[in-house]
Amino acid sequence: MKHKILIEPFKIKSVEPIRYTTFEARKKLLKKAKYNVFLLHAEDVMIDLLTDSGTGAMSAQQWGALITGDESYAGASSFYQFRDAVRDIFTMQEVIPAHQGRAAERLLFGQLCKSGEIVPNNTHFDTTRANIEVLGVEAKDLVIEEARDCNAVLPFKGNMDIEALDNLLSQHESKIPFVMVTITNNSGGGQPVSLANMRDIRKVADKYNKKIYVDSARFAENAYFIKMREDGQSHKSPIEIAREFFSMADGALMSAKKDGMGNIGGFLTLRDKKVADEIRTNLILTEGFPTYGGLAGRDLAALSLGLYEALDEHYLEYRIRTSEYMAEKLRKLDIPIMEPPGGHAIYVDAKAMLPHIAPLDFPGQSLTCALYLHGGIRAVEIGSVMFGSKDEHGNPVTAPNELVRMAFPRRVYTQAHFDYVAEVLGWIKEVSSQLPSMKITHEPPFLRHFTSHFEPSHDFPSVE
Ligand code: F0G
Repeated sequence: MKHKILIEPFKIKSVEPIRYTTFEARKKLLKKAKYNVFLLHAEDVMIDLLTDSGTGAMSAQQWGALITGDESYAGASSFYQFRDAVRDIFTMQEVIPAHQGRAAERLLFGQLCKSGEIVPNNTHFDTTRANIEVLGVEAKDLVIEEARDCNAVLPFKGNMDIEALDNLLSQHESKIPFVMVTITNNSGGGQPVSLANMRDIRKVADKYNKKIYVDSARFAENAYFIKMREDGQSHKSPIEIAREFFSMADGALMSAKKDGMGNIGGFLTLRDKKVADEIRTNLILTEGFPTYGGLAGRDLAALSLGLYEALDEHYLEYRIRTSEYMAEKLRKLDIPIMEPPGGHAIYVDAKAMLPHIAPLDFPGQSLTCALYLHGGIRAVEIGSVMFGSKDEHGNPVTAPNELVRMAFPRRVYTQAHFDYVAEVLGWIKEVSSQLPSMKITHEPPFLRHFTSHFEPSHDFPSVE
């Protein structure tokens, strides 16, 4: 018989206290942080859902590996352990460690892209987009049309629009250095990509003789979605599915701070030794020797275990159930969310929840501030603050959606923490029509969401 209650598949051995704060205290702290939650001190946050990146809890085995990690400059045994784990799961021979995902992005794009080119992806993550655009290259999003509709329920809403990819390649074949696929599609709601879609991407890429690179930060969650949702896959283990997915790629970029279960780390893995060797030359310039690439031996040792722990079926069942559980609670409260729930996060649809705030007045930023003020919860705006741009006349252009992402650190929060978050969102819903619009008072030229300053049009309502 199957139990109704799914328990967290771990016991807690070491705890960190949460520092309690009040609404009044948080009002002052948020004002000081210029209404940008990235500028808060983490100790002033009670539940931190800013990101699932580098924020997970390592296992006792991983902590043990930190002690036995080999810190030799060249040829450390921890590197070989790490290399073998990556080869085993990602099916590619060349393994280049890097300090995190964006370092791997910079190395790969710097090697393969030239100004004036176009890189298609289902949806580029913000650092991927920035590392491409900084080279004068266009980052093109070709996710299926339905992905932009928060209410469309599809099993693989992260899939690439194959026809659009074929059209783009037929029109600009010589300008496209390679094709990218992001699993899961973080900027589009943490939605998965199916094996069938990857097979079709491969066919189109082969037609134009292009390589495919997978941005694989959440590859294990993607594999579990395939197991659950794709015809004929339920009997396979997540690792078998991951191998099948990667066997269709020429390379993969990884932020190991997500499904690598590490607090830091990343890598690039490739089939082409010549390209890998060229990249290694650049790696030595900025990241370090090719057997550590900016990481300590202990990090490599912890990651080589974490990559397998992320593929554990009990862990993945609990992980995906967590976001489903939150989605069920929020639906009951009539809080609009991106459907179906993604793997690592719930994305609240701020445009639908705060219809009185126009996209250019940043409803997502307002909701992000309200979550902090009312519950000490930190989330992140994924809307026109993060992805807004300017047209050729300098007029602001909005993002396709105004979302607030509540990302779930791996193995960190328990069911009661999630119940608390739902309760706070319920309170905010009661006063949502009084939430202020936001304006930017200071912004940097790139990745503005990290450091911009904001001002609300009027005070945030209290719920007491
Ligand atoms: N690709 C994807 C899909 C990501 O989600 C991230 C990071 C990166 C690349 C870059 O990796 O941070 O190790 O340099 N995403 C984090 C997030 C920051 O909060 O979603 P990194």
